[in-house]
Amino acid sequence: MTQYRVSIVGTGYVGLSTAIGFAIKGYIVTTLTHDSEKATKINIGIPPFHEPQLQENLKKAVNKKLLKCTLNAAEAILNTDITFIATGTPSQSDGSIDLQYIEKSASEIGEALKKKKSYHLIVVKSTVVPGTTEKTVKPVIEKYSGKQCGVDFGLCMNPEFLRQGAAIHDTLHPDRIVIGEYDKKSGDTLEALFREFYSENTPPVLRTNLPTAELIKYASNAFLATKISFINAIATICEKTPGADVTMVARGMGLDKRIGSLFLNAGLGYGGSCFPKDVKALVAHSKNLGYSIKLLEEVESVNKAQPLKVIQFCKEFLGNLKGKNIAILGLAFKPDTDDMREARAIPIINQLLIEGANVTAYDPVAVPIAKTIFKNKIQYATSAISCLKNADCCIIVTEWDEFKKLKPEDFAESMRQSIVIDGRRIYSPKDFKDFKFAAIGLGH
Ligand code: UDX
Repeated sequence: MTQYRVSIVGTGYVGLSTAIGFAIKGYIVTTLTHDSEKATKINIGIPPFHEPQLQENLKKAVNKKLLKCTLNAAEAILNTDITFIATGTPSQSDGSIDLQYIEKSASEIGEALKKKKSYHLIVVKSTVVPGTTEKTVKPVIEKYSGKQCGVDFGLCMNPEFLRQGAAIHDTLHPDRIVIGEYDKKSGDTLEALFREFYSENTPPVLRTNLPTAELIKYASNAFLATKISFINAIATICEKTPGADVTMVARGMGLDKRIGSLFLNAGLGYGGSCFPKDVKALVAHSKNLGYSIKLLEEVESVNKAQPLKVIQFCKEFLGNLKGKNIAILGLAFKPDTDDMREARAIPIINQLLIEGANVTAYDPVAVPIAKTIFKNKIQYATSAISCLKNADCCIIVTEWDEFKKLKPEDFAESMRQSIVIDGRRIYSPKDFKDFKFAAIGLGH
């Protein structure tokens, strides 16, 4: 029997993966959403998005009555000891984050806490700029509950570092746990929960104050985004240097322990729901503090230019793209997810359409989402091979495993012209020596 009962506000990939993690470890967990359709699905074990290991574990958790989803905040709060806030913090037009969902969650939690007699711990998991937990979440909960933080309820900030496509794995095997605490009792309670959860496999636990924890999340994501833009800038130098290859440059750099080999894959740049939003938010936050963090502005501009390089490669091979058939392999912002937020496929396809090309795209899971974006402006294939049929040029946009298995002859046999552009460096240029072949970071 576990010591704590847990509730989670928000059923996006962070909220639901965290909830599944607790259920796998035998905790009783209640998730809260306002979306009744989503709640119905979750309660019968159907995940609302594609994420490896989610479906089978959700089904198990629901069958064992360890996980349920409710629309009623009081039910979630009154029957549990610790509540995680995992609602979204989307970007606003100036890059800063929109706190409306966080504020709404805090007010609902506060309202429910009014009726609670015992101590309750609230933990902000959502990515929020430094100062938000103390200056926004705390006063809203105090206002709606009539209770005092540090006396009647505790408050922590516990950033998550989950990767989409590996969210359940990362929940169960994190590199570190960061606990930002309002007071010692709050931090002790959250640390006790995590020590119970991970037992002898507890990773390093770093305890600090609330704004430092909030900044650790932004600094981590901004640093990883910087690593990606750095190698993409080096890729541009490679492209202008006959014989140079960014893959080998990255390998040579990565063997230095001070640099490390991860997040040095040159490609079409970073997309997804985190890096673009978090870099923007840190730039905007920094501006508000009177410091313009130009380093990150450059990280963003390298990232913006990166996907459009493949259009240039296409034109070098084909000249005018009007009426040319272009096959796009990969739509999701990365493999193992159907998420297309800030996916590199979007600016690439939009530009191809502006140039008058005919676009056919294939992705193992993201086609339904792509249809809501591109509607009938492009064709959708049901397999990689059928996507290549009659194509004048193929662009690899997402590095799904099934694309890595394609052989040069698969391209040659289906395409009208043997032109391949490897946007994710998944092929060996030697294998495509009989093709017109271009790749990010490959000198020519
Ligand atoms: C990221 C962080 O990794 C995670 O810790 C945080 O909690 C959320 O943001 P995620 O966005 O799911 O996770 O994916 P990630 O694997 O980090 O990739 C982000 C983007 O960077 C993808 O578009 C990916 O294609 C790109 N990328 C990643 C590269 O272009 N090169 C790399 O070497 C690594």
